[in-house]
Amino acid sequence: MRQRTTSEWQAADAAHHLHPFTDFKALAAKGTRVITSADNIYLRDSEGHKILDGMSGLWCVNVGYGQQALIDAATAQLKQLPFYNSFFQTTTPAAIELAELLAEVTPPQFRHVFFAGSGSEGNDTIVRMVRRYWDVLGQPQRKVIISRNNAYHGSTMAGGSLGGMSGMHAQGGVMPDIVHIEQPFWFEHGRASASVDEFGLKAASWLEAKIVEIGADKVAAFIGEPVQGAGGVIVPPASYWPEIQRICDKHGVLVVSDEVITGFGRTGQWFGCETFGFKPDLMTFAKGVTSGYIPLGGVMVGDRVANVLIEQGGEFNHGYTYSGHPVACAVAIANIRLIQREKLVDRVREELGPYLATCFAELAEHPLIGEAQTCGMMGALQLVKNKATRAVFDSSLEVGMVCRGHCFGNGLIMRAVGDRMIVAPPLVMTIAQVDEMVGLIRKCLDLTLADVKQRGWD
Ligand SMILES: Cc1ncc(COP(=O)(O)O)c(C=O)c1O
Repeated sequence: MRQRTTSEWQAADAAHHLHPFTDFKALAAKGTRVITSADNIYLRDSEGHKILDGMSGLWCVNVGYGQQALIDAATAQLKQLPFYNSFFQTTTPAAIELAELLAEVTPPQFRHVFFAGSGSEGNDTIVRMVRRYWDVLGQPQRKVIISRNNAYHGSTMAGGSLGGMSGMHAQGGVMPDIVHIEQPFWFEHGRASASVDEFGLKAASWLEAKIVEIGADKVAAFIGEPVQGAGGVIVPPASYWPEIQRICDKHGVLVVSDEVITGFGRTGQWFGCETFGFKPDLMTFAKGVTSGYIPLGGVMVGDRVANVLIEQGGEFNHGYTYSGHPVACAVAIANIRLIQREKLVDRVREELGPYLATCFAELAEHPLIGEAQTCGMMGALQLVKNKATRAVFDSSLEVGMVCRGHCFGNGLIMRAVGDRMIVAPPLVMTIAQVDEMVGLIRKCLDLTLADVKQRGWD
């Protein structure tokens, strides 16, 4: 890449590059931030600033930047066989080995994988596979997939429809036979009236009510993220998922766990369903499978579904050019081996996750914070106007964006979802680096509080 000044990069970017989930006009006027390199948990921008990446890229760089084993795996595979497809009765050693390894690290009901290029493509696969399953079983009327408001399942037509983001539905519409129930977000929907565990059961009961309303014989599957990530790191009550499982079992409904964020150690187990105690029939993965070094996604297909599809025979009319891309698979193998070698899942469960939880419990004492939640290496801080009553700010004030601005200005990537500040840092952090991140968060909360007071928003 040739050397340019920041303003030259920004001008070229504004001239030619349309960014995801972005107001093109506003960004062109402001100028984007240009990230030029990274190492371990730190990014560098074109101005030379060092930034602690509290979001692991986009929830994906779980092993941190600059891991030589992943770079070597990609290089070797690029030299040996940069591409071959898995259509037409062919495959590659890298795809086979990754399939074997995924069967080893996922819960025991999973022995098969269908590869895709991203989380969104994985969820498109889910829709087609779930419907194919019920067709093969002679129940083609079982088409409806139930999801939740404020869920995020990607941005393709099926991903956006499965997701519960009203802004996306408003622009792209929702595919037929996908419906949504309310999310298990205690702070938003339960804090006025119920204990956390009571609320978990109540939120799960919304699924049963919806199944009964539609008719169980028409419901194909329920899909959910174990912890809603993009929705604001919403950690459900412990009572929620076991009750969801009970309801789905009772009505014969397939359970789909979207593990695109929660997979590969993020919650302190290999997969979020293990942390929350449920047994999905299908699992979407992406991001952490390669630590984001190269795109790869897919679906783990549990025995309940795989046995029917395999034994019945007949072609599954679905697939992507890059399903099982050998370079992506080689990187995934190196990444998973590294997670195993470094015992990162155990570290998150036993050391890093509990430490982050303690730090967030201390941050919860801050006058701006109405609720702090963590799960493994994910955390959320809910900004409130009044700590005692937990009254929230008027959303038009965009206090979360004010806080995010301070984070950017002080060398920390932390994301704002409304007034919920969230992190999902790399799983390779040291305790000292967690302290560094938490120190920066505290500083930015103090700066935000000063702004709130100065502007008379309190
Ligand atoms: C839970 C979940 N599912 C699916 C996706 C979509 O993945 P991708 O952006 O790789 O298509 C995301 C992305 O953030 C996600 O968080």
